[in-house]
Amino acid sequence: MEAFNYRDGELFAEGVALSALAQRFGTPTYVYSRAHIEGQYRAYADALAGMPHLVCFAVKANSNIGVLNVLARLGAGFDIVSSGELERVLAAGGEPSRIVFSGVGKSRDDMRRALEVGVHCFNVESSVELERLQKVAAELGLKAPVSLRVNPDVDAGTHPYISTGLKENKFGIDIEQAEAVYARAAELPNLEVIGVDCHIGSQLTTLEPFLDALDRLLLLVDKLAARGITIKHLDLGGGLGVQYRDEQPPLAGDYIAAVRKRLQGRDLSLVFEPGRFIVANAGVLLTQVEYLKHTEHKDFAIVDAAMNDLIRPALYQAWMDVSPVQPRAGEARHYDLVGPICETGDFLAKDRQLVLEDGDLLAVRSAGAYGFVMSSNYNTRGRAAEVLVDGEQAYEVRRRETVQELYAGESLLPA
Ligand code: LLP
Repeated sequence: MEAFNYRDGELFAEGVALSALAQRFGTPTYVYSRAHIEGQYRAYADALAGMPHLVCFAVKANSNIGVLNVLARLGAGFDIVSSGELERVLAAGGEPSRIVFSGVGKSRDDMRRALEVGVHCFNVESSVELERLQKVAAELGLKAPVSLRVNPDVDAGTHPYISTGLKENKFGIDIEQAEAVYARAAELPNLEVIGVDCHIGSQLTTLEPFLDALDRLLLLVDKLAARGITIKHLDLGGGLGVQYRDEQPPLAGDYIAAVRKRLQGRDLSLVFEPGRFIVANAGVLLTQVEYLKHTEHKDFAIVDAAMNDLIRPALYQAWMDVSPVQPRAGEARHYDLVGPICETGDFLAKDRQLVLEDGDLLAVRSAGAYGFVMSSNYNTRGRAAEVLVDGEQAYEVRRRETVQELYAGESLLPA
């Protein structure tokens, strides 16, 4: 489902004109579509119908509790990487028994809190973490459900910063060593081995790496069974790509059908951890042109959003589409879209053909994933507002930060 469409010459989010949202909430503002989020979640859940499964939304992609609540209402699970994310999921009405806890650096406090609330599974990333989890669970007199995150050594063919399944990455346990670590886990009295997981990278646009990883995991499951260690669920992580420009990522339904085919005759349930797929194209970053600066070499559109609001272009050279909210006739120029921050890396897009006047509104597309969540207060800029659109209604699910809030926790030296 396309959430953002032109109607009567202007860009809408579902049934609401973006210009009306800019007027009501100001800019920069993230705008999300409830219908798009729900449709993307259902693409996974529907393809898994008829078999035991969990679709655990990767909270790191968009952790606004309004967004999490939309998913919780559909019965989604959640993939978290900190006790902070855990509290968000609980505040949003998420079910603890549908949470998987990923991440290479879980603290003792993280573990304690997750054990207390009763998460579905800890995705353990190293043998040292396994020993720590045993200790913490023993102190609480509880049993921790575990899966080992295995590093299957496959090349996801994606940007190096978001590729995680290669031997040289910090993530997971080398698949060669996994059997031994499972044997150790099975010995520890306060752990219960329930699954195996992997996550090989993000923004994958072909199925082969996923299926290669799956085949390697299934070999491991068989070897473990031969040792008497039963794996109940297989968690393939997230990573399914979306269209930012002209990528043609596989359909979720095709991906899941291919996985199900390989699982035939096995008694395994499936877990997925999609993040980007669910929310990327459910969001735009709405921004306003402050100045048009024409130099001898370049035309700059200086907008009121910056790298602190959306860091993906600066950090990953990510290409994000830019659409005028109310397109105007005239002669197009090639603009670099830049923010007010004092860094050359502060750009949102380069060399875009646009017809602009100052005061115009622009929508940076596909900004629903890894947008607001990666924003900062650099240059003492308050973070943007977030608005969730549902049909004809718009709800401010996070208000804009004020400057006073930014230094509220700071203090002067004594006089
Ligand atoms: N599971 C685990 C263990 C992960 O590390 C990640 C993402 C996901 C699931 C969700 O992956 P997704 O379905 O969203 O691809 N900031 C980067 C992306 C970093 C992804 C980190 N891990 C970006 O803006 O492209």
